[in-house]
Amino acid sequence: VFQTKIPPGLRRLPGPKPLPIIGNVLEVGSKPYLSLTAMCKQYGHVFQIQIGMRPVVVLSGSDVVRQALIKQGEEFAGRPDLYSFRFINNGKSLAFSTDQAGVWRARRKLAYSALRSFSSLRGTTPEYSCVLEEHVCKEGEYLIKQINSVMMAEGSFDPFRYIVVSVANVICGMCFGRRYDHNDQELLSLVNLSDEFVQVVGSGNPADFIPLLRFLPSTTMKKFLSINDRFMAFVEKIVSEHYATFNKDNIRDITDSLIDHCEDRKLDENSNIQLSDEKIVGIVNDLFGAGFDTVSTALSWSVMYLVTNPELQERLFQEIESNIGLDRSPVLSDKHNLPLLEAFFLEMLRHSSFLPFTIPHCTSKDTSLNGYFIPKDTCVFINQWQINHDPELWKDPSSFQPERFLSSDGTEVNKLEGEKVLAFGLGKRRCIGEVIARNEVFLFLAILIQRLQFRTKPGELLDLTPEYGLTMKHKRCHLQATLRARSEL
Ligand code: HEM
Repeated sequence: VFQTKIPPGLRRLPGPKPLPIIGNVLEVGSKPYLSLTAMCKQYGHVFQIQIGMRPVVVLSGSDVVRQALIKQGEEFAGRPDLYSFRFINNGKSLAFSTDQAGVWRARRKLAYSALRSFSSLRGTTPEYSCVLEEHVCKEGEYLIKQINSVMMAEGSFDPFRYIVVSVANVICGMCFGRRYDHNDQELLSLVNLSDEFVQVVGSGNPADFIPLLRFLPSTTMKKFLSINDRFMAFVEKIVSEHYATFNKDNIRDITDSLIDHCEDRKLDENSNIQLSDEKIVGIVNDLFGAGFDTVSTALSWSVMYLVTNPELQERLFQEIESNIGLDRSPVLSDKHNLPLLEAFFLEMLRHSSFLPFTIPHCTSKDTSLNGYFIPKDTCVFINQWQINHDPELWKDPSSFQPERFLSSDGTEVNKLEGEKVLAFGLGKRRCIGEVIARNEVFLFLAILIQRLQFRTKPGELLDLTPEYGLTMKHKRCHLQATLRARSEL
């Protein structure tokens, strides 16, 4: 084992003693959010483990994470060179690649502005305040019809199976200007496979750290590679259709706006960061991938919390009934009139912590934290799950209580409490889809709760144990739902 030289005045990172070759893989185990949360009680909020031969610094605690990601943001904004990341988007991903800081920043800015303009664009008719609202309202309506007809035909339904298509359609609408039918096999085979993708990309996958494991036959890894290939082929086909029909005077969607940027840049001799067309158009791959998996996981967890808390589901319905009524569909501007729904959303994020770690970070130079020395190019895990379950921050963290985010009279969401939930990362790498995600999940939920009553399927036990990955999913299951009285199709 290499002994790093510690600069004077700084201390060596604490942590469990690693075994040769495998390091601490056994202690980390298959639920790293639990094992690393337990370790932080022993070693503190900054400690080091070793996965294989590679040291990894694990950060916990709200103060330490804010110090690293915000105050020392520049030093902690890199991404590590991990084996699995090389296959995502051919190694050209905005979120996972080890792009130079300048290149990553330029791409992030492009992605952010494309996303912002194509979600806030005016809808096709004045009844919608923006296209995001229009897409979600329309997809919500299709989803209710779809769930209802599957209920009629089969007596129960798998919520994730239908939610993921609706959510994929919203991001497809913004990225590609099109949607897919709930039975479209091309889209279905793509979005229903995301489980294997997130299992490989989750923090602490041993194959990322132990080179030997890459040569062992692994079905998960094979599936991961094939998902990446299919994903890229799917996007490439749509992108080449866009190139073929591109018209500068009619920018239809995010893909067009990125193609347009490539053309513009060729005219602009002075632009100081040179991005290849591939790196520009490749952004749409990231937006599509990040946009459907996260939001569908959030909605699917929400539905699980609704069926396991039936009285809460009724109160959420009553909140909608009395503040919006049942005669019109909810819209984004109803958000501030539905504090219980907002609190429910925050508690779903906190309690499930379905993104238990951010995407791994990496130090861009030698640095220190809490007096401990951290060398350049160290892989860093940010334990969001620990912060969301920290008994120092939350009363009775393991119980599901949306009221913790409400004022005592229940009429207002406590903003400061809400900001304690860590789900979207912080600082320079913070999620660029956060506003869209919050609005999208809120609106889908309001629409579903207004029209449908969800319940468990008699005789079927729900398993809410998360399956570890970049985004954690509950086990697939079957539920039942009925249309609310007065709700017609
Ligand atoms: C990054 C959470 C939805 C686009 C991230 C990160 C987290 C996160 C934790 C990593 C932050 C870090 O590495 O420190 C979420 C959650 C979502 C959501 C919880 C939904 C509830 C979305 C949506 C989009 C999106 C809808 C786009 C349409 C991205 C991108 C990055 C990212 C492009 C990479 C940023 C970078 O590396 O610079 N998100 N996200 N996300 N997210 Fe999201």
